[in-house]
Amino acid sequence: MISANMQEDILKVLISEEELQKKVRALGAQITKDYAGSRLLVLGVLKGSFVFMSDLIRALDLPCQVEFMAVSSYQSGVKTSGVVKIIKDIDIDPNAFNILIVEDILDSGLTLSYLKNLLLQRGASNIKIATLLDKPSRRVADIRPDYSCFEVPDEFVVGYGLDYAEHYRNLPYVGVLKPEVYAKSV
Ligand code: IMP
Ligand code: MG
Repeated sequence: MISANMQEDILKVLISEEELQKKVRALGAQITKDYAGSRLLVLGVLKGSFVFMSDLIRALDLPCQVEFMAVSSYQSGVKTSGVVKIIKDIDIDPNAFNILIVEDILDSGLTLSYLKNLLLQRGASNIKIATLLDKPSRRVADIRPDYSCFEVPDEFVVGYGLDYAEHYRNLPYVGVLKPEVYAKSV
């Protein structure tokens, strides 16, 4: 059960709202510099990236287009299935852009390595990855983010777009979920 007061399900706040805003603004400034004069497509991976991405694009001081793809690599629990399915695709020529994939968290890396390869096969030549969180200890695929805001330990985190069983995305901070929450049915 998700508690009526979501805060009760959080073991601890890992990254505060203020820290998130500061880091995301700094990343926006860096990306603004790196992509000056290029045709930028910011490609969000739904749903987890939407909060991070909405703050990030407002920290970019350069023209860009925005698209979303939806893939599933997780069912509704905390373990990866390793299966990546495209649920929502894009309908543009990936070779016409410098693509910045925006992800909430790079965990096993299976989702992004699949997505990156798919875009490369379709003719994209310039792809970079910006992730809010990086959990390098869990990496299975050979992939690294070009931009990462925070490295996190091997704990299940929620908030600022990240979910457990489709909940907690609306928490303004990133927090560690109490393990007993996974054990309860939702
Ligand atoms: P990967 O394919 O294992 O890298 O998984 C990436 C996706 O798994 C992310 O986009 C998240 O949706 C989900 N994920 C991985 N770790 C966490 C976590 O700690 N909290 C919430 N979602 C997670
Ligand atoms: Mg996700």
